[in-house]
Amino acid sequence: DWNMPDYIGEAVEKIRAQVGTDEVILGLSGGVDSSVAAALIHRAIGDQLTCVFVDHGLLRKDEGKMVMDMFSKNLGVRVLRIDAEDQFLGHLAGVSDPEQKRKIIGREFVEVFQVEAGKLTNAKWLAQGTIYPDVIESAGKGKKGQTIKSHHNVGGLPETLNLKLLEPLRELFKDEVRKLGVALGLPHGMVYRHPFPGPGLGVRILGEVKKEFADLLREADAIFIEELRNTPFELPPVAGIDAGKAPVNWYEATSQAFAVFLPVKSVGVMGDGRTYEYVVALRAVQTLDFMTAQWAHLPHSLLGKVSNRIINEVRGINRVVYDISGKPPATIEWE
Ligand code: XMP
Repeated sequence: DWNMPDYIGEAVEKIRAQVGTDEVILGLSGGVDSSVAAALIHRAIGDQLTCVFVDHGLLRKDEGKMVMDMFSKNLGVRVLRIDAEDQFLGHLAGVSDPEQKRKIIGREFVEVFQVEAGKLTNAKWLAQGTIYPDVIESAGKGKKGQTIKSHHNVGGLPETLNLKLLEPLRELFKDEVRKLGVALGLPHGMVYRHPFPGPGLGVRILGEVKKEFADLLREADAIFIEELRNTPFELPPVAGIDAGKAPVNWYEATSQAFAVFLPVKSVGVMGDGRTYEYVVALRAVQTLDFMTAQWAHLPHSLLGKVSNRIINEVRGINRVVYDISGKPPATIEWE
């Protein structure tokens, strides 16, 4: 039995008692967990909190602006936006191995964060959006056998920062974190977003990451997400969907959906001319735990509309394909 106002009151008191008058820094990724942690800590200690938002140039369309609007403009949270696109893309140039790319992105993130944290000389605490499943997962590390993907969550920072850890969401499950976020004034659409990997578009551009590819992918992905949100969900619920509330559109009816950039060119025809351009794959899955997943049976009319829009609106893409692989044997992300 969870009473939200009481819970917030107690959590706020606990944070105040813990940090006193100290300053706190938090790496804001724009994801649900770090966002809710930021909102909660800000509720407790206001300007004693500084968030650092590292833009690695591999974010989705308008994501940086959205994060800044939500926190800086609407909630009055102090957020430093670090534009590190050149640094990340520079280090990724020429690298095509997925694990290598994850390592570079994780390493550069820590590097940038450390520099910014170093400037905030009064900070004594590092806040993180660690939630209960993360605690369980890291306790069980090493028992699972082979690592399929290093799953670099760019929120994970090293102890070399010499800061005390503040993790106010440690006891909460994801659905509780979401409810807390809404109660703290975060927009519903933000709190119920699909998960987005820490390395961002870096693992959705197959092979070498280039700005040109990221720009094309951002446009294609935004069209796909927009159409999923705008298409009503009318079929009866499918296994893998939260039975607690019926999805109203195809975005809510899927657990994760995104576009993947394939650095492959194929021939097309547009007007009187021949084109020779890149391919985008669409991926949409339904899952409860992300360990197994089924590909979403999106309506053909929706797929057709997305394909037409991408090919017409994104110069440089002339072919769209739909991924019909389950997990296993495929994974959700392509890298
Ligand atoms: P896979 O592709 O392994 O993905 O089936 C399962 C879930 O994990 C997410 N994912 C990541 N998240 N850093 C993250 O923070 C990563 O490197 C990473 N790789 C995959 C993926 O988006 C899906 O939700």
